[in-house]
Amino acid sequence: MTPPEGPDTTAVAAARADGAHAGPRHVAVIMDGNGRWAQSRGRPRLFGHHAGARRVREIVEACPELGVKYLTIFAFSTENWKRTQSEVAGLMSLFRRYITKEARTLVENGIRVRFIGDRLRLDRKLQELMDELEAVTAGNDLVHLTVALNYGGRDEVARATRRLAQDVAAGRLDPETVNEETLPRYLDTHVLPDPDLVIRTSGEARISNFLLWQSAYSEYEFVDTLWPDFSAEIFAGIIKGFCGRERRFGAVREQTNV
Ligand code: FPP
Repeated sequence: MTPPEGPDTTAVAAARADGAHAGPRHVAVIMDGNGRWAQSRGRPRLFGHHAGARRVREIVEACPELGVKYLTIFAFSTENWKRTQSEVAGLMSLFRRYITKEARTLVENGIRVRFIGDRLRLDRKLQELMDELEAVTAGNDLVHLTVALNYGGRDEVARATRRLAQDVAAGRLDPETVNEETLPRYLDTHVLPDPDLVIRTSGEARISNFLLWQSAYSEYEFVDTLWPDFSAEIFAGIIKGFCGRERRFGAVREQTNV
């Protein structure tokens, strides 16, 4: 019997055994190209978003074998409100349905879900579903899935700075002690490690306001594949490529012990 197609995990293990450094613990993904994927098929853009949502499950399920403990996906940006009212409404409805439909599988598969972004602008029902999903998956630890929804890196830094300033004004924080480690404690991602690898699909080489602070030393991978075509095999291939990269974090080779 032909085994079912799955990610090329043996290749990843081999790359690690070759003496290359470990794979990425935290991968962040800008899921781009849903609209073009649909339009090239003569279908409405929402058709592409639905196909994209199906890919999310496949990629989350591939994470444990690939050694990816944290996966962060960009689902809706603070700029995406500029799209037509019908596309925005369709996406919001998709998020509500996705959470309702996938909650049980996520709980059973050991996935812990968190949301980042400014959720106050989202409709109340969606906010409730997000809160519930975070609560029911809070005991899970196999994969930490973070969904960026109404997220913008600048907005996140601005909101963090506002809270930091409030703490200074209230006398809870001494401004003289503020350093590089202070601000991340106020970011939405404060419980997450920084991403090791950021992937963007669809051939665009931009970061579009995603994890601006956190990705200062991330590796980037831009692939031409449109998100609805982004398979676990492609994901595994990128992870394998990452294992061969040398990350120096500003130091020279001898200092990094790669
Ligand atoms: C970018 O493609 C994609 C989005 C703005 C939405 C991403 C949403 C999903 C993949 C849906 C599922 C997500 C979850 C969490 C269930 P685009 O519309 O900008 O494509 P284009 O550049 O081809 O127009």
